[in-house]
Amino acid sequence: MKTPLFSKLETGSFWFSDSNRSSPGCNMRRGMVLLRRVNNTRRGMLQSSLSTTTSTTHDASGDSQYEDYNKTSATYDKYRGPIDAGTFLTTFAEVAQRLNVPQQELSLLDAGCGSGNHLKQFESDVGTVSGVEINDGMISKCRMKLPDADIQQGSITDLPVGTASVDVVITTQVLHHLETGQDQSFPNVVLAANEVFRCLRPGGSWIIQTQTPEQHVSGFWWAPIVPNAAQELSTRFAPMQTFEEICRGAGFDQFNSVVPDEPLVRLDKYLDLEGPFTQGFRNADSTWSLATEDELEKGLAMLREKIESGEAQAWLNEREQLRAQIGQTTTVVATKRKGTGSISNGRRTKFPFARSLSFGKTF
Ligand SMILES: C[S@@+](CC[C@H](N)C(=O)[O-])C[C@H]1O[C@@H](n2cnc3c(N)ncnc32)[C@H](O)[C@@H]1O
Repeated sequence: MKTPLFSKLETGSFWFSDSNRSSPGCNMRRGMVLLRRVNNTRRGMLQSSLSTTTSTTHDASGDSQYEDYNKTSATYDKYRGPIDAGTFLTTFAEVAQRLNVPQQELSLLDAGCGSGNHLKQFESDVGTVSGVEINDGMISKCRMKLPDADIQQGSITDLPVGTASVDVVITTQVLHHLETGQDQSFPNVVLAANEVFRCLRPGGSWIIQTQTPEQHVSGFWWAPIVPNAAQELSTRFAPMQTFEEICRGAGFDQFNSVVPDEPLVRLDKYLDLEGPFTQGFRNADSTWSLATEDELEKGLAMLREKIESGEAQAWLNEREQLRAQIGQTTTVVATKRKGTGSISNGRRTKFPFARSLSFGKTF
């Protein structure tokens, strides 16, 4: 059971990705449980306080501030692949139904597409796939994988995409690379949410794969090897309630979240006790890039000692119990209600990047 997460997330609505785990109280498909409605006044206050800080902190030309993806893109695909595919596919079907078009005609944009693993995975499930990515190394991997797809260099905070021109936007494990702001107001996550909302056709959805701060610290077995780095990176993830407020402030109507069972790193690689000793394993998660040499050296010595004393497997199992309880990541689906005002006519086009369709932002 993953019940403890409910109280921690305090999100508006929540469902399990694993249908076997649906709670008895669930009354909607896939066990969605309505928990709490966001307080409108508080949401409005957050959005207006954020909107005053966004204009000066735009990081559209900046790469990740702490991970060198030109380097790590070389080994990324060996360790990482799409997770929680079921939620993505369910959402595509729901969007198609809402828009009253065949799923095979949907346009899918991956904002922060990295090496293109998700676009490749879902290429045959929708009509067109396109991507925006900021990093050179990741873009070249993505273009190699998807030679016919439109992959543009750019930032999720300033998408080179027409207004109301795409049906589904996905953003997986990207938001923690955006500036958090000194007061943890996540100004660039606000920009990103506003941008995605602008680009989505009314009735479309934004699927976000991210983590909660708690999941980042407790959901990864190896976090105690580099505890300071794990703690530091956890502050780069917006708490789920804050993220919901940001999405609703941008105009998104529905906000649902699900905790998938899979870890981010491919399971066989993830559970390798020797993994942290290799650079490839460490390249698969940005936490390691925040560890000082000293912290890494001490942490690896602690792991080596556990391995040699025969305690390591039991320790890993104990850590894995925590992952089973709170999960390692959260998938959010935020939906732009049909009928939401948009300056563009929202006509369907095969070319979502056509700037000519964009007449300005909707807010
Ligand atoms: C952990 S990787 C995830 C890549 C891919 N979405 C996936 O799930 O495999 C984070 C990605 O976010 C990209 N990124 C960071 N800041 C970005 C921004 N402002 N706009 C677009 N992409 C960004 C990085 O370059 C990197 O490719």
